[in-house]
Amino acid sequence: MDSFIFHNPTKLIFGKNTLQHLKEEIPHYGKRILLVYGGGSIKRNGIYQNVIQLLDEINATVFELSGVEPNPRVTTARKGVEICKQENIDFILAVGGGSTIDCVKAIAAGAKSEHDVWDIVTKKHPAEAALPFGTVLTLAATGSEMNSGSVITNWETNEKYGWGSPYTYPRFSILDPTHTITVPRDQTVYGIVDIMSHAFEHYFHQTSDTPLQDRMVEGLLKTVIETAPKLLNDLNSDQYRATILYCGTMALNGMVNMGYQGDWATHNLEHAVSAVHDIPHGGGLAILFPHWMEHVLDTNVDRFKQMASRVFDLEQGSLSDREFALSGIKALRAFWNSIGAPSRLSDYKITVNSIAEMADKTVVAKPQFGNFRPLTRDDAVAIYQASL
Ligand code: NZQ
Ligand code: ZN
Repeated sequence: MDSFIFHNPTKLIFGKNTLQHLKEEIPHYGKRILLVYGGGSIKRNGIYQNVIQLLDEINATVFELSGVEPNPRVTTARKGVEICKQENIDFILAVGGGSTIDCVKAIAAGAKSEHDVWDIVTKKHPAEAALPFGTVLTLAATGSEMNSGSVITNWETNEKYGWGSPYTYPRFSILDPTHTITVPRDQTVYGIVDIMSHAFEHYFHQTSDTPLQDRMVEGLLKTVIETAPKLLNDLNSDQYRATILYCGTMALNGMVNMGYQGDWATHNLEHAVSAVHDIPHGGGLAILFPHWMEHVLDTNVDRFKQMASRVFDLEQGSLSDREFALSGIKALRAFWNSIGAPSRLSDYKITVNSIAEMADKTVVAKPQFGNFRPLTRDDAVAIYQASL
């Protein structure tokens, strides 16, 4: 295990009927509130009306920015920055999924900077401060509700990058599982795949002696594997929604990955796909992750054997080590197929013609990416080819 410092300042408020905590939390920061949300799901399921009522009860002056896109655009973040600067906003409230929260992180940092938001995202001018913000999460997936990361897309240049800063942790996040009940089946599946993918990004690392971390990641994966089919059979279940919601936060809030550096190549590969094709993040991960696993299998066969036995409860029997390792990857593919996740780039009508452009985007920041096995542009091409 490597040395580490763990610090996560986000206050997590979890459970049914917790939305009213807005009335205690927001007044610490001021009265002029920018409420940010997506394409309207919160109006259809009533969360918007409840939030507005609570803001009214604390006499907040509310400004609104709606229409944050899935794969949020820098253009939308710029609009938010403008409102914050013009209206002297004290606090931003994100109500929605990871896209809305990520957009708010960019707005919060942009509001305290003289530079364009894209310069913050591309790290040309890293964030030096941010307006305080909180979140009401409505979709279990990204973990953005309790981390400092944000992923923003520039649709003019077809670029999509992750960035983060010590200033962009939410001050609080309210997670009421009943807020996620209206998430449609397909988005529920994408969320499940994203949560599992965060666990896999952690799991494939090169640091030795991480026994507790391994067990925590394996426990998280097994919990999702047990719960996901039950939830998909009963999308209205508060109980299963709560389990998946908690798994989503725990998968990417730093708790299970102290003391080692995860891989993250597959997220880089996926961000390049959705930068060009605007597909759902979880859909892209479901296609790519098993192919990444097969591509890097020989880097550490034992690690994949451990996944096969401890995550998927498989037995080696007469299989060779490599065959057994491969059987774990097949079990993952079979599980994702069984819950209805996509498995080929062609499911999104992505063809061989896009591979060069996507592969170029995987190496814009650095010539190599990923920590379990550093990959080059050629590796990206091979993984995309296998995923067609
Ligand atoms: O926009 P609205 O109308 O709200 O609808 C959304 C959207 O269409 C809908 N939705 C959300 N909550 C709902 C709901 N529909 C019905 N009922 C509800 N309760 O779901 C759709 C998808 O929402 P989105 O926020 O885009 O999904 P997600 O949370 O999966 O976020 C995806 C984005 O997060 C980034 C991804 O790259 C992608 O841009 N990521 C952010 C990370 C982070 N900040 O730590 C890490 C992740 O790996 C990921 O890269
Ligand atoms: Zn992800």
